[in-house]
Formats: sequence, C-alpha cells, structure tokens
Amino acid sequence: MNYRHRFHAGNFADVLKHTILLGVLDALKRKPAPFAYLDTHAGSGVYALDSEAARKTSEFRAGVLRVLDAGDLPPLLRRYVEAVRACDAGTPLTRYPGSPWLAWYALRTQDRALLCELLPAEAVVLRSQFADDARMHVHQRDGYAALAALLPPPEKRGLVLIDPPYEAQEDEFRSIRHGLEQALTRWPQATCAVWYPIKLARTREPFLRWLRTCAAQQVLVAELAVRAENSPLRMNGCGVALLNPPWKLDQALSAALPVLARLLGEDGQGDSRLQWLKRE
Ligand SMILES: C[S@@+](CC[C@H](N)C(=O)[O-])C[C@H]1O[C@@H](n2cnc3c(N)ncnc32)[C@H](O)[C@@H]1O
Repeated sequence: MNYRHRFHAGNFADVLKHTILLGVLDALKRKPAPFAYLDTHAGSGVYALDSEAARKTSEFRAGVLRVLDAGDLPPLLRRYVEAVRACDAGTPLTRYPGSPWLAWYALRTQDRALLCELLPAEAVVLRSQFADDARMHVHQRDGYAALAALLPPPEKRGLVLIDPPYEAQEDEFRSIRHGLEQALTRWPQATCAVWYPIKLARTREPFLRWLRTCAAQQVLVAELAVRAENSPLRMNGCGVALLNPPWKLDQALSAALPVLARLLGEDGQGDSRLQWLKRE
C-alpha cells in the first residue's frame, strides 16, 4: 500500500466526489429519521495543503482552488464551497476536508459515521480527530470486509462511500463488485457511491456493464473529464456511480457537472456525462 491521499487532496477528483457526497448526505437529511454513513476507504480526514506532499503535486490548484475562485455557482457547488470554507476560511487555503470531515460537518446529532481505514498511521490521525464525538466511529480494518460485517446498520437508511486507491488497477473493480454484492444482499435500499478513475476509457466499461445488472433498483453515473486524452498514462477524468441515488440528485448534478467541466477542464477540454444506467 503506497497510496497517500495527501498528495492528491483537493484535486479535480476530490471536487467531484465531495460535491456528490454532500449532495447525498443533505438529501438524507430531508427526513428526520437517523441515518448511517459508511466510508470504506476513509483516509486521514483533513489534509494540509501547505505540506511538502501537497505542494509537490499541487493538484489542488487545478481542483478546489478553481471552484473557490469562481462566482455564480449552482446550488450543489455552492454547498461544496461552503463546506470547504467551514474547514478553512483562510486565504490561501491550507486545510482541505476529506470525506470523514465532510461527513462530520454534514451529519446531525442523530446520525452516525462508520469510518474504515486500513493504514494504521492514517487511522490514528482519524481517530484522534473525532475522539470527542460519539457519532464518529473509526475502524482500522479492510473497508471491503466491513461491507459484510457492518451492514445493514440499525438505522436502515444511509450512504456507503467506496473510494479506494486503485493500486490494483482494474482488479480493484473486482473487489468493488464483490463488496457491492455483499452490501446489497444485506441492505438492498442502500445508497452507494463508488468513485472510479478514468484513464483509458474502455477499462471502466465492464464495471458499468455490471452496474446495469446489479441488485440496486437505480444506478446513475456522473463523470467528469478534464482532458480529451484517452490513455492509460494519466487520470484524464473520473466518475462516481450512484446506486439508489436520492430523489432529484440527478437534477442538481445536471446543473453542477457542466460547470465543473468548464472550471476544471484543461485548456477548454473539460467534459461531463450524467447517465442513468438503470432505472426501474
Ligand atoms: C482515495 S483515499 C480516501 C480518501 C477519502 N475517501 C476522502 O475522500 O477524503 C483511499 C484510502 O484508502 C486506504 N485503503 C487502502 N486500501 C484499503 C482497504 N482495503 N480498506 C480500507 N482502507 C484502505 C488508503 O490508505 C487511503 O487512505
């Protein structure tokens, strides 16, 4: 395991993923009943953008900073900016919120977060951050195994975020499919969000084909490309597959995605796609 998210925090992939994360969590809050949030690959929670690691790649400059600097944003992106600013109101931005922090920020008193992180050093940081908050449960364990062990939650409502590092390249999709099967068998109504990178576009096709046949009733895919390139060498785009997405999130995304493509695309090459793969 060599992947460290601190090199990539706040990049275009985080912008897409975290915008969708907040959209789903906010939608779950439309009902007063409590919900559970399971983050299978949590990371360390908050990232220092002035660290050597973040400055080395500077990926956040072509990601979060471009959105913070933009005016006239659609509601989903306004919400994303508001949450990032709640984590760090300063200029320049030196702290970027990861998915556990955003969940901590968005959850109500009755909701819970189950955060899985395999790497001991990251799990220690995560645990110390939320030590005083009984809603936040940190598990140093394999996030895929947690899908079988921790689901369904007693709340029977909620979100599962699967955000692996894809060190196994296309083989990661095999683990994801197996994990989703485990999750949906135990909890068919679960809303699941799966982030995936897009390098050579065709490598994600088998996963998208599988999603059309999976046990979720509805599957929506939101993709963002930052350059027209179609090569295995770089991450040219990314996507989030949403299983059983909340009502009307597609409408909010259809307003936000073209704006992200315009803001985050390289030299005007940005593009986006929103597609229902399954709608029963
Ligand atoms: C892409 S990062 C997560 C970023 C985080 N979800 C966010 O949005 O802020 C992936 C994380 O998964 C962790 N990891 C890798 N394999 C794992 C596994 N099998 N189970 C749980 N965590 C794992 C890595 O250590 C890394 O911190």
